[in-house]
Amino acid sequence: MFGYLINGLILFIFGGLTGLVNASYSLNNVVHNTSFIPGHFHLTVGGPVFLAILGMSIFMLSQLTGKRIFAPVLNTIVPYLWTVGVLIFSAGLMYGGLIGEPRRTNMGLTYLNPSSEQFNPYWVVSSMLGLAGGGIMFTAGLLYFISFFGTCLRKRSTEPVIDLPVSETLHEERRVPLLDSFKPWLAIMGLIIFLTYAPAISDALNNTNRKAPPYKPTDPAPVVRK
Ligand code: HEM
Repeated sequence: MFGYLINGLILFIFGGLTGLVNASYSLNNVVHNTSFIPGHFHLTVGGPVFLAILGMSIFMLSQLTGKRIFAPVLNTIVPYLWTVGVLIFSAGLMYGGLIGEPRRTNMGLTYLNPSSEQFNPYWVVSSMLGLAGGGIMFTAGLLYFISFFGTCLRKRSTEPVIDLPVSETLHEERRVPLLDSFKPWLAIMGLIIFLTYAPAISDALNNTNRKAPPYKPTDPAPVVRK
């Protein structure tokens, strides 16, 4: 579980940092619909979300059935291997995205195919990095399933229990009233939500008659071919 959770958190550092690009109005324009987006979100959904689900699933499976985990060494390697894979995969996709590589595109048929007139040599390195990282991720996933289904097929060796590890405090902590109650935090949360949404809601209510700007065929920008 340590390996699964700590690797998820490490990946999420990069997921959060690259998410700032998506959240920024001007930078979002640069990466919109490029491979930067799947590069970014595999660091988030493929990081703590996916790894926590994998780790907790096999932990619960073993505890609830009383079966020892099959190939525990393989299972321990999985989150570390997955993390190396995602870092390479996402670096490739995000680098490609910054130089315009599109997402949701069969790159092999078009831009990576030297015999296609759409061939673009700039996206070869980034796609190959994505391929290498994706291969490592696939291998980690395969090892996990070997361990998971191997555990399912094992004979029960102990009584099924569910024993979630908890940590005990060594001594009574000094009580801080602000941290002991949800109320001040709920009040602060309410205030922040109000400050965030009030301008947008007020704008929507006060501009009900304003029409959207007309669409021009040249929007967003003409493609200039040299
Ligand atoms: C072996 C592991 C994985 C590999 C190699 C992989 C690879 C990819 C690639 C290359 C894309 C981009 C496709 C495109 O834009 O043309 C993609 C999209 C996506 N992936 Fe993954 N992925 C993996 C695991 C995961 C996991 C674990 C999740 C979520 C838990 C996930 C969620 C998604 C989603 C939501 C999309 C977007 C699909 C879309 O554009 O509609 N992937 N994946």
